[in-house]
Amino acid sequence: MGDRPYTLLSCGMSIDGYLDTASERRLVLSNEDDLDRVDSVRAGCDAILVGAGTVRNDNPRLLVRSPERRRDRVARGLPPTPLKVTLTRRARLDPGARFFTTGDEEKLVYCPTDAVAEARDRLGEVATVVDGGRPLDLEHLGEDLGSRGVRRLMVEGGGTVLTQFLTGDLADELHLVVAPFFVGDSRARRLVGDGCFPWNPDRRARLADVRRIGDVVLLRYALSSRFETD
Ligand SMILES: NC(=O)c1ccc[n+]([C@@H]2O[C@H](COP(=O)([O-])OP(=O)(O)OC[C@H]3O[C@@H](n4cnc5c(N)ncnc54)[C@H](OP(=O)(O)O)[C@@H]3O)[C@@H](O)[C@H]2O)c1
Repeated sequence: MGDRPYTLLSCGMSIDGYLDTASERRLVLSNEDDLDRVDSVRAGCDAILVGAGTVRNDNPRLLVRSPERRRDRVARGLPPTPLKVTLTRRARLDPGARFFTTGDEEKLVYCPTDAVAEARDRLGEVATVVDGGRPLDLEHLGEDLGSRGVRRLMVEGGGTVLTQFLTGDLADELHLVVAPFFVGDSRARRLVGDGCFPWNPDRRARLADVRRIGDVVLLRYALSSRFETD
């Protein structure tokens, strides 16, 4: 097993802490400049991870968009965009989802031992299915990514996955963008669910940076002693 990669969590939320609406309508939290910043963070990572819920709801491509950044990665001996990673318990993912159909780089699907056969059946043509243990353990997942050469991992949500990385104390850095509006609907997905978080009123996280990007604000938190300043 390899070392756990440096793990950076990145997400946007409304002022009242929601990642999305409860409806089908996709919520746009970022602005163009912020999307470009996210693109540059992606370009600096070896892998991007999202939960299966995000693959199903948002159908994201998770590619580096800028041609210059893709060229720069290739010049550094890297694939044009990072490896894509998802995790699922039920293996109910559509092989036609953009997560699988866009980009030439490898896609990894981690699932618990019991779901491996079904996941290989459904997704074996479009991704490498990895046995994540019984139950799937995120620490093990990180070490497995490390053994595949992933040194820097970007986790882009959703809330279920962010909650586990945070409560498991498996994150080194959090990029949290706050968009200037409210969602106001408790049926919508919040940034995190209930849990025992290492940062609480008795142990405050370190706010490493605050940046205004047009009408949104980026809060950057250092979550471990491995935190890297740029
Ligand atoms: N604002 C933002 O920055 C942002 C970013 C990303 C997503 N989002 C929003 O977040 C919402 C999705 O969040 P979500 O919490 O519902 O879903 P999620 O965190 O993206 O994915 C949850 C799913 O991942 C799988 N999973 C999670 N932990 C697992 C574990 N330990 N072992 C095995 N499988 C595991 C399960 O998949 P199965 O159900 O397949 O078993 C689970 O249902 C979407 O509405 C999206 O728009 C917002």
